[in-house]
Amino acid sequence: VARILIGEQSEILVDRGLPSRLLPERDGREQAVVISQAPVRRIADQVIERLRSELGAVHLIEVPDRDAAKTWQVVGGLYDDMARLNIGRHDTVVGVGGGAVTDLAGFVAATWLRGIEAVMVPTTALGAVDASIGGKTGINHAGKNLVGAFWHPRRVLVDLDTLDAIPLPLRLEGAAEIVKAGFIADPVILDEYRRHGISAPLDVVVPRAIAVKAEVVGEDFREGGRRAILNFGHTIGHGIESVTGIPHGYAVSIGMVAAGAVSAGRYGFDGGSLTELLASLGLPISSAGTSKEAVLDKVARDKKRTAAGVRMVLLRSIADVVVEPVTTDELDLGLAAVGIE
Ligand SMILES: NC(=O)c1ccc[n+]([C@@H]2O[C@H](COP(=O)([O-])OP(=O)(O)OC[C@H]3O[C@@H](n4cnc5c(N)ncnc54)[C@H](O)[C@@H]3O)[C@@H](O)[C@H]2O)c1
Repeated sequence: VARILIGEQSEILVDRGLPSRLLPERDGREQAVVISQAPVRRIADQVIERLRSELGAVHLIEVPDRDAAKTWQVVGGLYDDMARLNIGRHDTVVGVGGGAVTDLAGFVAATWLRGIEAVMVPTTALGAVDASIGGKTGINHAGKNLVGAFWHPRRVLVDLDTLDAIPLPLRLEGAAEIVKAGFIADPVILDEYRRHGISAPLDVVVPRAIAVKAEVVGEDFREGGRRAILNFGHTIGHGIESVTGIPHGYAVSIGMVAAGAVSAGRYGFDGGSLTELLASLGLPISSAGTSKEAVLDKVARDKKRTAAGVRMVLLRSIADVVVEPVTTDELDLGLAAVGIE
């Protein structure tokens, strides 16, 4: 369906089914370590079967589910296993799973022998359009994603058949990030969701959302400038996520409503139709009852803050983005728009 490149470093292949050869052509590779989680065992088995036709030795290491995998203990255990297996400089780490797995597998690949090849097979929509794209890897230590490394996967294999089959809550979470890509850079994505609702064809919206992230990240690998636009909906969204514990994609949806309201106040952006689209997909648009003090406290501590105060990604119109400091009144306005007063 699509082949998207991030410079020379990373190749993202989007298709129906997995290709018969998973690994990039390269000399010297002898082994692969597949890191995965129990709920996607069937997919990991498929990947392993293909890898066995390419390689002498393929090892599966199953880690605890969700973010329980993103810990020092798990990383330490993986290093022990890789030492025992004698995983060398020319070998490959393959992550099969959602964003938690790809963050962990990427981090292990980035740090083992100061960096070996990583290949990702994301199995959630959020993993496919966001977590596995762009080279941010990491674990949770002393806070979420505070320890990590930038390390591009050599190849990312997105199987749309897998994404079509994921449970609705995961589909909704992915839709929030895909719609975000639409608002910051690609109106065609928004048209697809307006026309088809949550069943918007993944063959169209997934490659387009990946292309948005790939293009932004290709220009700004380490988040000095333009990469910040990917945080649309994330400033307030992260605050709500850490106070309430709701899933990331849902928090981003609510965060976009808040950012839409601030954008409306400052630039006359049509925040109403943004909210309407998210609601029509079944995404949450309010966090009524959440403590305003608690959210503001988290927002102020956000690791992406600067000396200039809280900055937000705002829309002057669709695909016209600015990243600007906001006033306390504007933050209040954004929070009020999602029922936090
Ligand atoms: N590196 C980045 O740029 C980046 C960006 C966004 C999010 N993330 C990280 O991604 C993680 C969240 O990722 P996620 O939303 O994919 O959740 P997840 O990886 O925690 O997976 C959620 C659940 O779905 C299961 N699952 C995965 N694929 C499935 C499938 N095909 N069918 C059924 N179940 C499946 C998982 O085993 C898990 O139980 C967080 O750790 C977050 O920090 C990283």
